[in-house]
Amino acid sequence: MTVKSIITGTGSYLPEKILTNADLEKMVDTTDEWITQRSGIKSRHIAAEDETTGDMAIAAARQAIEAANINPEDIDGVIVATTTPDRTFPSVAVKVQAELGCPPGLAFDVQAVCTGFVYALSVADNFIKTGQAQRILVIGAEKMSSLVDWKDRTTCVLFADGAGAVILEASEEEGAGIDARGIHSTHLYANGTQRGMLQTSGGPSTTGDAGHIEMQGREVFKYAVTYMADIVAEVLAVNQVKPEEIDWLVPHQANIRIIESTAQKLDMPMDKVVVTIDKHGNTSAASIPLALDEAVRDGRIQPGQLLLIEAMGGGLTWGAALVRF
Ligand code: UT7
Repeated sequence: MTVKSIITGTGSYLPEKILTNADLEKMVDTTDEWITQRSGIKSRHIAAEDETTGDMAIAAARQAIEAANINPEDIDGVIVATTTPDRTFPSVAVKVQAELGCPPGLAFDVQAVCTGFVYALSVADNFIKTGQAQRILVIGAEKMSSLVDWKDRTTCVLFADGAGAVILEASEEEGAGIDARGIHSTHLYANGTQRGMLQTSGGPSTTGDAGHIEMQGREVFKYAVTYMADIVAEVLAVNQVKPEEIDWLVPHQANIRIIESTAQKLDMPMDKVVVTIDKHGNTSAASIPLALDEAVRDGRIQPGQLLLIEAMGGGLTWGAALVRF
């Protein structure tokens, strides 16, 4: 029997404050029509000034722990995907571990920007498969509002805050092939020659501050469409799965047009795609676990269904996972 990592609980957290396109119209030279047509975003959540990525991660984690019906003492690993840590160091993961009361075990952050959650899920999956951990709390959490230049209309209308979490557990459940529960494959890529297309203007060892988001949106868009089409084809080929066998596409939420294009490549109707971009905006590493939790809690995603998860972001990085929920 082989060990598989299965998702046994999900959780999420969104800050109270909602910023609408109408609010943004008063802040920069933009319109609700432009933002909606170009990105699909209508509103987004913005963290309070004193609310940190760690605070949001902890709130999402508590929900996931409850949903998995476990205690924090049962967790032997915490991995947080984030680009906006509370401090340059230590990691958000060690704060989450301590505040939740998890016992000493592995805890660290993963930084792959919008692909961060897929990277973190893949790393956690490998720790579990090699027997180094049994139950890992995997979180995507971001306070992207802290990196946004609120005078830059090309980025401030897109990014937002929130957190999502999953509990990943070792399982030796019966079941053969693609019918078995758990993560079937993960696929990770980066092309560092494209790192300048989406970056911050600074960092600890250059300017000494976190900097602001700078993005060549049109270029990133083009690569996103291509990379997502390529990677979903790779996932299908590696697992010998047909598009119609996928129950849900759970994509990173950066732009509704990128999501629609990927769905089209898979020949998937949009009612099999989890879309939260309209209400959440682009929450970077948090967007996939936020979308996943929403669709699990409202009953769309059911145990035993096959999920295709994919993301693309700064680096450029991109990745995907095929998961039997
Ligand atoms: O999550 C990480 C990965 N990120 C992404 O995947 C984002 C990928 N990129 C995108 O989603 C899209 O490129 C954007 C939504 C960022 C922009 O959409 P676009 O259709 O590519 O627009 P554009 O950048 O080509 O800009 C078109 C026009 C420009 O004016 P000109 O040069 O044509 O006169 C912009 O200056 O729209 C202008 N513009 C705006 N107008 C009103 C840019 N931002 C705004 C704005 N409101 N907020």
